[in-house]
Amino acid sequence: MSPLEAATHNNAYEYYAGLRLNGELLFDEGLGLWIASTARTVEAVLTHPDCRVRPLHEPVPAAIAQGAAGQVFASLMRMNEGTRHRCPRAVIEPALASLATEDVVTRIGPPAADLNEFMFTLPVSAVAHWLGFPRDQLREVARMTRDFVACLSPLSSDAQLRDAHAGASRLREMFSGLLAQSGLREHILRNYEASTWEDPDALIANLIGLLSQTCEASAGLIGNTLVTLHRCPDLLELVQRTPTLTIALVEEVARYDSPVQNTRRFVASRCTIGDRTLEAGDTVLVLLASANRDPAANPEPDRFLLERQQRRTFSFGLGRHQCPGQKIAVSIAAQAIQDLQRRQQRVLSSPCAFSYWPSLNGRIPRFHG
Ligand code: HEM
Repeated sequence: MSPLEAATHNNAYEYYAGLRLNGELLFDEGLGLWIASTARTVEAVLTHPDCRVRPLHEPVPAAIAQGAAGQVFASLMRMNEGTRHRCPRAVIEPALASLATEDVVTRIGPPAADLNEFMFTLPVSAVAHWLGFPRDQLREVARMTRDFVACLSPLSSDAQLRDAHAGASRLREMFSGLLAQSGLREHILRNYEASTWEDPDALIANLIGLLSQTCEASAGLIGNTLVTLHRCPDLLELVQRTPTLTIALVEEVARYDSPVQNTRRFVASRCTIGDRTLEAGDTVLVLLASANRDPAANPEPDRFLLERQQRRTFSFGLGRHQCPGQKIAVSIAAQAIQDLQRRQQRVLSSPCAFSYWPSLNGRIPRFHG
């Protein structure tokens, strides 16, 4: 197994435990990547100023640079450092923190009947509705977002990249319409107008970014929670008796079986992490899901504990790019599980076969039947 194959492998966590035995960064000759697997090295890399989110020579992947998806990508806070990161984050992060996420399921209208569709569309629809989109546009927004996120994966085909450009164009159009009709969520608009950041195209790109960041990671969070419930019927019984425990359930799933298994950092100038010296141009694969299982971060890391004391979760990143959507994502996933309990009890109680969607970093189950 390689650290990239681990993302979608059943025995990933045993493999990560083996990697962690060597506490320092390891260099994987085959992949040409440094590997950070312990909580200490993961934290050191994610908080290091010279470990950046994009390689200096390729701010936008060459495969999408010539098109709408590439233009959106170029402005995303997730893909930038410095002012192109700080300005959108200062506008969007406080607005997200004020988001009331109760009753999302009832507010966005009837959820998709198909389980896989449900996992991908419900969280994006919830965030899109909060941003200001009316109910009758949510289905299209969710579809276009799913098309757009394909541009973020190196595994995508040419046809998927073409759809990603089309999705980005359509989402830009839809957000422009929302802005023109003053339909955009007031809190974001107020923060934007009060800031010195004057770049409406970048604002729109980052709103698309909110949807794209929500899409696959939240689908994985819901899916991995279902997998956990299928494996542990006692847990299912417990949350059925005490539905308020569903938040704790999703939080422990995020640690125990993260939908985002790894992220990357690109070294901008020579730096030292632990005992290792990294050179400009080096790439580090940061194994978030391994850090979650490091006993130095979480005692008895391989036990699933609903009420874990001082849980340390690396699945949402750390440092300046740490996920600003963590609270919302957990709340939406918990509501999705509760909605399934009400409407489709069978989906929770009968284990069904699944495989993981092909990915180098996402662990998202695709249920069959
Ligand atoms: C409502 C759902 C979500 C929203 C709106 C959201 C939004 C975002 C945004 C805007 C960023 C970029 C922050 C920056 O670069 O400063 C981000 C980063 C991140 N998100 Fe989320 N996110 C959501 C769900 C999730 C979930 C479910 C996970 C995984 C459990 C996740 C994991 C991450 C990680 C690991 C990063 C940082 C990546 C890195 O530093 O390389 N997110 N998120």
